[in-house]
Amino acid sequence: MGVKILTEHIGTPGLETLAVYKSKGGYASVEKAIKTMQPDEVTEEVKKSGLRGRGGAGFPTGMKWSFIDKKSGKPRHLVCNADESEPGTFKDRYLMSKNPHILIEGMITASYALGANLSYIYVRGELMYVVNILQKAIDEAREAGYIGKNILGSGYDLELHVTCGAGAYICGEETALIESLEGKRGNPRIKPPFPAIAGVWGNPTVVNNVESIAAVPWIVNKGGDEYAKIGVGKSTGTKLISASGHINKPGVYEIELGITVEDFIYSEEYCGGIWKNRKLKAVVAGGSSVPVLPANLILNTVNGDKRLMTYESLADGGFASGTMLGSGGFIVFDETASIVHNLWNFERFYHHESCGQCSPCREGTGWMEKILHKFIEGHANMEDIDLLAEIGKKIEGNTICPLGDAAAWPVASAIKHFRHEFEWYVTHKEEASRPGAYYKGEKLVLA
Ligand SMILES: Cc1cc2nc3c(=O)[nH]c(=O)nc-3n(C[C@H](O)[C@H](O)[C@H](O)COP(=O)(O)O)c2cc1C
Repeated sequence: MGVKILTEHIGTPGLETLAVYKSKGGYASVEKAIKTMQPDEVTEEVKKSGLRGRGGAGFPTGMKWSFIDKKSGKPRHLVCNADESEPGTFKDRYLMSKNPHILIEGMITASYALGANLSYIYVRGELMYVVNILQKAIDEAREAGYIGKNILGSGYDLELHVTCGAGAYICGEETALIESLEGKRGNPRIKPPFPAIAGVWGNPTVVNNVESIAAVPWIVNKGGDEYAKIGVGKSTGTKLISASGHINKPGVYEIELGITVEDFIYSEEYCGGIWKNRKLKAVVAGGSSVPVLPANLILNTVNGDKRLMTYESLADGGFASGTMLGSGGFIVFDETASIVHNLWNFERFYHHESCGQCSPCREGTGWMEKILHKFIEGHANMEDIDLLAEIGKKIEGNTICPLGDAAAWPVASAIKHFRHEFEWYVTHKEEASRPGAYYKGEKLVLA
């Protein structure tokens, strides 16, 4: 059993109440930070910890905090990104619903470090039950003097609000989230200026993922150096992985960064192997936006080393033979899964969720969806494979926000690693077009 930082006490009855959470050492980081540390010292510990943003991009959290404009004299804000809409990712809602106070504690300690007096938790619209759980936790924390005016007699004030979106994936992109939080349509902003300079209400803002903020109490209590001892290289600490697909034990697992992918898939502690004793075909390791890798490449790098669950190891080989840890949405496909069918499903999602500001994304995602549909309907030609790849290339890097890239990368990787499967749909048009038919490992199956 590896170290558990976020989930250690999950399963304790009543953990969502302040009394039980405090009995497990909860809110110690607020006491320690506010009573004994300067705000910059808290940031320093987070820097030392090597914690990287758990929302997907993996940007160092302490460094992000140090970019916040403290000179302008404007109010500052911390915004927790709890939008969690990336297909395959369901860790944040798990953590917030099972252990809400760890996030509230992290929000207070992080807000103190940033000098923020007004902070927000922006929750995906569908997750109303989470909003209610968080609101209860905030009310309890306020009652206990951890939120509000003059926290613990220190002179530091903090207001903390839970707001919710309306269920748009794009509102997880930090500047779209800010627009939405301000009551506008959730369109991503052109950057610069970055939120650290002009975020919510035009004020300096840090946007962090739920999991990033929830790691802060442990880091402040035990020290950044202790956190940095967990993991491998620049992938420090633990990571929540949302494991789904054709595995025996789907669920949310807290892993120490650095275990092998093989261990994660096959050990009883985590996914428990591929279901029905089938073979592993492919994995989407970090949520729907990251490149899909076939079994040989997800288990081993091109050099033959075992691939590790770290930012670096998963990216080894670049986009030719690597992928990304992303948000930790780990989707496993067994030998019977259809990569083309699944990709169509993903692209349907991206087309639906494109905000429409940038024409390459607005139009391109729709074209990709339509072309993929041609494959599974038995109308596609060989040229459509390259056309699909070409459209992806035209989207990538040509949009205001990375939703376009997120739609393009899965297409490029699926064609690179599973071209034969696309070709099968072209050479087996008649079978492919039968209602409910789809490619399952070299043979036709009727669903
Ligand atoms: C289309 C899109 C959707 C995103 N959705 C989320 C999300 O649901 N949750 C999240 O934390 N980050 C999401 N991100 C990343 C955020 O823009 C941002 O990088 C993140 O919240 C920063 O937090 P971190 O540094 O703690 O990872 C998304 C990005 C894009 C482009």
